[in-house]
Amino acid sequence: MKKKITKIGVLTSGGDSPGMNAAIRAVVRTGIYYGMEVYGIMRGYSGMVDNEIIKLESKSVANIIQRGGTILKTSRCQDFFTPEGRKKAYQNLKKHGIEALIIIGGDGSFKGAQIFSNEFNIPCVGLPGTIDKDIAGTDFTIGFDTAVNTAVEAIDKIRDTADAHDRLFIVEVMGRDAGYIALHSGISTGAEHILIPEKKTKVADLIESFKEKEKRKKLVNIIVIAEGDDFGGADELAKLLSKELPKIDLRVCILGHIQRGGAPSCFDRVIASRMGYHAVECILEEKFNVFIGVVNNKISYTPINEAVKKKQRISEEWMKIVKILAT
Ligand code: F6P
Repeated sequence: MKKKITKIGVLTSGGDSPGMNAAIRAVVRTGIYYGMEVYGIMRGYSGMVDNEIIKLESKSVANIIQRGGTILKTSRCQDFFTPEGRKKAYQNLKKHGIEALIIIGGDGSFKGAQIFSNEFNIPCVGLPGTIDKDIAGTDFTIGFDTAVNTAVEAIDKIRDTADAHDRLFIVEVMGRDAGYIALHSGISTGAEHILIPEKKTKVADLIESFKEKEKRKKLVNIIVIAEGDDFGGADELAKLLSKELPKIDLRVCILGHIQRGGAPSCFDRVIASRMGYHAVECILEEKFNVFIGVVNNKISYTPINEAVKKKQRISEEWMKIVKILAT
């Protein structure tokens, strides 16, 4: 009979996202509940390569569910993407007797897990932790809801000042090459235009729309632009618009890393807790090399290599909603 896994490692990798701590807490407490030893690997894959691995107890994760960031710290480790780095990482896991890994991160982190698992036969389970929501196979990622709400709060404030001055604001939000933060924050703040990488916007159409707005004295406008949009971000778009519409009173606001910090929302704490619990269950049930998602409010399991290959797509219907609601 195969020996049950009793020692697991957990790490956070890539950009941090609010709710990662809630996920770590769930993994640690569920693992301990099932009689496992749980090890925290510091600074993502770097801690595996450099042997920064610590045993976590139930009290190690007390009072963290409400905190942003990650108590395990995180990094984007280049060494892990070399065969030598991964060999060192494997040897360090062996030193601690760690038999399986739970990786909380984005698709880049899952890619590392997939390679490592294939090479050294270490079972891996992924939890989607990224504000970008750019992973196919789950309706939500840990941190997205908080990030979007942070953006919404900021854009609402920007609209107050835009309104006071009759100005156009271009607000840039994060998302890397995905437009979900822009789409959700834009819709929920009534942005007049939402520019995302998934949908090409013609410059001529944008300019035409502002000329038309000017005619009917609609001077308070907000463009929410995803950092990965084809225009090249808010500054580039501002240059272009100022050239074409010299009279326009325009300001740029780049929200940046505030979107990554702060206390996780209730929604992120709940999905992180559910996902963390199910990740340990996966290991017990030997459902390996999958990542946990939430689809239609049910826990889903997707082969980790599919998260690497696929991206979420934004349907035409979303864009139609934006067009109809923002005039
Ligand atoms: O993937 C999360 C994210 O915040 C992206 O939205 C953004 O493009 C990137 O990370 C920023 O990375 P860094 O913190 O390394 O500048």
